[in-house]
Amino acid sequence: MKTYPVKIKVNGKWKEAAVTARDTLLDVLRKKWLAYEVKNGCSEGDCGACTVNLNGKTVNACLVLALQANGKEVTTLKGIGTEQNPHPIQKAFVEKGGIQCGFCSPGMIMSSKALLDKNPVASRSEIREGLSGNLCRCTGYHKIVDAVEHVAKNNQS
Ligand code: FES
Ligand code: FES
Repeated sequence: MKTYPVKIKVNGKWKEAAVTARDTLLDVLRKKWLAYEVKNGCSEGDCGACTVNLNGKTVNACLVLALQANGKEVTTLKGIGTEQNPHPIQKAFVEKGGIQCGFCSPGMIMSSKALLDKNPVASRSEIREGLSGNLCRCTGYHKIVDAVEHVAKNNQS
């Protein structure tokens, strides 16, 4: 199959790959660049597990063609904090028990960050709405919402 070169900045570093016209951004992130923190839950835009930031917009990486991301900048979970220096939302997810199996967590945290970047003091119902595109099979959502609400409340003070 014919391939095309793409260059995409991932978490601050330019990366190159040859992709087909059908490869998605999720394919290239996971299969070519081993960005396993970006999860593949459904490949159809239904679960939010593959949520990343693309040039400032929150997207499902499974719904973006790799060619559409050419020349653009992607931030994944690993781009917002490290183990030594986690983002406050990452810290709150751990402290408030918002992570069980962890499969949904990267996408949940990226969506939470997008929400609080726009609305730092989001209410509980705004948080629920902001995370409505992200599915979790384990937590029942309460602890996830608790975690994000904790950060939003800290932002008020
Ligand atoms: S894997 Fe992209 S939304 Fe489910
Ligand atoms: S923690 Fe397991 S799917 Fe959300």
